[in-house]
Amino acid sequence: MSKPPIQISPSVLASDFSRLGDEVEAVVEAGADRIHWDVMDGVFVPNLTIGPDVIAACRNRTDAFFEAHLMVVNPDQLAHRYVEAGCDLVMVHAEACDHLHRSLDNIREHGAEAGVVLNPHTPAEAVAHVLDLVDMVLVMTVNPGFGGQKYLPTMEPKIAKLRQMIELGGYDVDLEVDGGIGPSTIGGAVAAGANVFVAGNAVFRHPDGLAPAITGLREAAAAAGA
Ligand code: DX5
Ligand code: ZN
Repeated sequence: MSKPPIQISPSVLASDFSRLGDEVEAVVEAGADRIHWDVMDGVFVPNLTIGPDVIAACRNRTDAFFEAHLMVVNPDQLAHRYVEAGCDLVMVHAEACDHLHRSLDNIREHGAEAGVVLNPHTPAEAVAHVLDLVDMVLVMTVNPGFGGQKYLPTMEPKIAKLRQMIELGGYDVDLEVDGGIGPSTIGGAVAAGANVFVAGNAVFRHPDGLAPAITGLREAAAAAGA
């Protein structure tokens, strides 16, 4: 199977919220492949962030692919709101869904792509029986809740296992990593088999600006064999 193309997905969590629409437009202009929206409810994770109306307000600023990462305890009640807000992909945590199969079906029935997210402690096997229902598997490489945390290289064997499960099953599924991704860590995730990379601080807080930040990530990914 040919290698899937590398994609960089900046997390607007690290952007300047007072200029959110401008930041989204600028990061797409700078070369982002998609936009990552971190949705936190203050219960599943100890932080509170972006409601659907905020995303809807930015939807008319770009045609870029929007992905919502729902860190909430009741994703079934909320997922359709994020589809209606203009998200192309909605991702739910396996740990938040008693009926994960149904939750993923629900997202697709509302017309979006569906994804499943794994916390650091959750094994790859948790998604073995839903790989036919998803477009994306997202491996957390930090504990979710905040940007700017340290990358957990101990997740790399899990990433490799998921890549193997996807390839052996012949699934058309992307494999994304989220948390602590920067020029010095992206290579390990590439080598393990990830092909979509969320980056918050490494993009929005780069001293040289957005475009050099994204180019630097692509170069580091390429150096690792992407
Ligand atoms: C953490 C979020 C991440 C976060 C990544 O819970 O899911 O998307 O914004 O930020 P960095 O890249 O700064 O670790
Ligand atoms: Zn995220």
